[in-house]
Amino acid sequence: MIHLTHITLHNGVKIPAIGLGTFRAKDNEAYQATLHALKVGYRHIDTAAIYRNEEEVGRAIKDSKVPRNDIFVTSKLWNTDQGYESAKAALQATLDRLALDYLDLYLIHWPKTYEKAADSWRAMEEMYQAGLLKSIGVSNFLFHHIEHLLETANITPMVNQVETHLFVQNQKLYDFCMAQGIYLEAYAPLASHEIEKLLADETLQAMAKAKGCTIPQIALKYQLDRNIIIIPKSATPSRIEENLNILDITFTDEEREILKGLNNGRKFFPDPDNIAF
Ligand SMILES: NC(=O)c1ccc[n+]([C@@H]2O[C@H](COP(=O)([O-])OP(=O)(O)OC[C@H]3O[C@@H](n4cnc5c(N)ncnc54)[C@H](OP(=O)(O)O)[C@@H]3O)[C@@H](O)[C@H]2O)c1
Repeated sequence: MIHLTHITLHNGVKIPAIGLGTFRAKDNEAYQATLHALKVGYRHIDTAAIYRNEEEVGRAIKDSKVPRNDIFVTSKLWNTDQGYESAKAALQATLDRLALDYLDLYLIHWPKTYEKAADSWRAMEEMYQAGLLKSIGVSNFLFHHIEHLLETANITPMVNQVETHLFVQNQKLYDFCMAQGIYLEAYAPLASHEIEKLLADETLQAMAKAKGCTIPQIALKYQLDRNIIIIPKSATPSRIEENLNILDITFTDEEREILKGLNNGRKFFPDPDNIAF
């Protein structure tokens, strides 16, 4: 069993710092990946209503025989469901598909209007108070989205899940969020569908060779060392294990500076201020 590390959110809830992402994992792939991940020691699974795989993820959780309380499950409120009543209905539909009676974390998937976010948040706060959600957060929120949400929120989000990898390190957003008690969660920590750009980087190739590990392992451990939660997706059993097996990797100050220097702002997901969905 591979050792796991945890981060304590501002409400005291512990989140395993490494989770399995499931974006673009459909049907049986999501089932197999979740089942394998739970078997080899993952205790944190990230899904979303829009991924259309909540049923498969839920089935794998059940079949894994791992006690429900030992697994941290995240899902997300899709854009068209934002609003007070619609958010409540969407959460219930998510719980039904996952066949669970609570989520460990529920996120507003993308910012739309400030009003929609505030209404959704009010519903999420109530569902949190009712025990259906152990923690609540946002995703793809920039500074101004968070500032506006905090104007009406009674509960500060515990997490902001944003695109974060070696090319987009988000130090300013990280500092801003941490000052509010909001942990950053890195989605696409391996550069997602553009992972080839990471694997082709000659600096990373040389570092991986010298350290006797892989480029994905370097990319993941670097974010973990920044106290950022990571949710790498893989549907390949050996990679699922590889991505979890990173805790022994350490960086010298010089290596950390090299990795910091790869930050070039190259995003692979839309600008949250200009989404067309
Ligand atoms: N909140 C949001 O808006 C949002 C947006 C995007 C993603 N997410 C979440 O974040 C998770 C991670 O992001 P992501 O799935 O976009 O991208 P990612 O985790 O950065 O990269 C996934 C890609 O890397 C490959 N891969 C994984 N481990 C590897 C390894 N060790 N060696 C070589 N290739 C490897 C995977 O291939 P195989 O599967 O074929 O192994 C897949 O093609 C998602 O799954 C989702 O849960 C959230």
